[in-house]
Amino acid sequence: MVRVLVTYFSATGNTKALAEAVAEGVRSVEGVECVLKTVPQTTNADWLAADGIIVGSPTYFGQMASRVKQMFDATVAIYGKLEGKVGAAFTTSGGAGCGHEMTNMSILTAMLVAGMVVQGTTQGPHFGAFAVGAPDEKALQQAREMGVRVATLCKRLAISGQLSAVSD
Ligand SMILES: Cc1cc2nc3c(=O)[nH]c(=O)nc-3n(C[C@H](O)[C@H](O)[C@H](O)COP(=O)(O)O)c2cc1C
Repeated sequence: MVRVLVTYFSATGNTKALAEAVAEGVRSVEGVECVLKTVPQTTNADWLAADGIIVGSPTYFGQMASRVKQMFDATVAIYGKLEGKVGAAFTTSGGAGCGHEMTNMSILTAMLVAGMVVQGTTQGPHFGAFAVGAPDEKALQQAREMGVRVATLCKRLAISGQLSAVSD
């Protein structure tokens, strides 16, 4: 069974709402299990057990929140073991043009440093799902679609044998 971890930090609920939509999208793909956790609940073992990891953070000062960065910093203990896993990012922000793309890019940057595989999209937000404030139906739908995209890529890589190679 392919496994996708959706891990998020949310202080006031906006990013949590988007995380639930991402997880819904992941779960809609047959043969893919979704584990939904908050960042404080997430351990390095959760990262290692997943074929894909989708990280959500509020936009804080134009980048991921420090609590989310701490989680990335902790993965240094398993550095090298995340190679080839699929990664994606989502965020919520207070305003449009106030840093949400930079926040997603800060998460994707950390994933690339960890050797992870990132798929962009020509349909919808290129750098990952986002909402300004509480997500509306359009943002929730884009988040679901991102969940589907990540789950589908994980399945494709699993079929070609790459994911089982990195999970072992
Ligand atoms: C410390 C702090 C820094 C923030 N920095 C930004 C920012 O740079 N740009 C922005 O658009 N919103 C900013 N916000 C607003 C949050 O990104 C926004 O309210 C977000 O939706 C909160 O997500 P949550 O409900 O999941 O906690 C900031 C909020 C806090 C508390």
